[in-house]
Amino acid sequence: MATEAFAPAKINLTLHVTGQRADGYHLLDSLVVFAGLGDRLRFEPAGRMSLKVTGRFAAGVPEDGRNLVWRAAELAGVTLKIRLEKALPHGAGIGGGSSDAAAVLRTFGGQERAAELGADVPVCLAEAPQRMRGIGNELEAVPDVPAVPLVLVNPGDHVPTPEVFRALAQKQNPDMGALPRWSSQAEFLAWLAAQRNDLEAPAIAAAPAIRDALNGLGGAEGCLLARMSGSGATCFGIFGSDEAARAAAAQIAAAHPDWWVQPTRSIGSAGA
Ligand code: C5P
Repeated sequence: MATEAFAPAKINLTLHVTGQRADGYHLLDSLVVFAGLGDRLRFEPAGRMSLKVTGRFAAGVPEDGRNLVWRAAELAGVTLKIRLEKALPHGAGIGGGSSDAAAVLRTFGGQERAAELGADVPVCLAEAPQRMRGIGNELEAVPDVPAVPLVLVNPGDHVPTPEVFRALAQKQNPDMGALPRWSSQAEFLAWLAAQRNDLEAPAIAAAPAIRDALNGLGGAEGCLLARMSGSGATCFGIFGSDEAARAAAAQIAAAHPDWWVQPTRSIGSAGA
């Protein structure tokens, strides 16, 4: 019997780098949410492991033990025929590979060992807004985060995560402090606007097109906030309505036919 799973895009609405450990890994304080847009996986029990990658971003994605999906299945102790439809760009700051791996662990078990696959895999198990601290391993569900209309823009540049962290000049920056209980979307957005992604500057230095993506989003009608996710290069814009997000996405895509531009929505906290 085949099983299916969805691996949503992960978005760092904030990403504060608050320190660095002796082993080189960075300490973070990040508000992470997930989007309605993501990769799709299909699993069938099989006598030997196999992986077929399809979809817009299949090119260059390994179909063997180098793929986190394969390694997640091994960690869960299952032998599967896996089909992975890549709708998300990978190595792009929105958790592509990590979210795929988390989808395997959610389906077959082994969640407690998620961190072995990568710093972002534990948070991707959650699918709901999380405050992520430590090197990604300290997680806390955040209430009151509203679902918001988004536009995701990837200008095509690939920026390797280790390089961006290495290029960050100031490694010790203020954390997010105590999170308020937001009582409206406007309050949440006002708070969010005062936060940062500390990796934006080093990522822009490595890939100047990220600045173009941020300007494209920020200049679109109805954009309330534009910021980079993770270590880039994908940026997100928050819009006042789904219609405004769709209109902005169409306008940005028309001006930049080579960019990946997608309107979507974030998943808010339960009951928010
Ligand atoms: O764990 P993962 O393979 O996703 O991390 C990729 C790289 O990003 C690490 O090798 C490290 O250079 C950098 N990183 C970091 N601090 C983190 C997460 C990742 O320095 N908290």
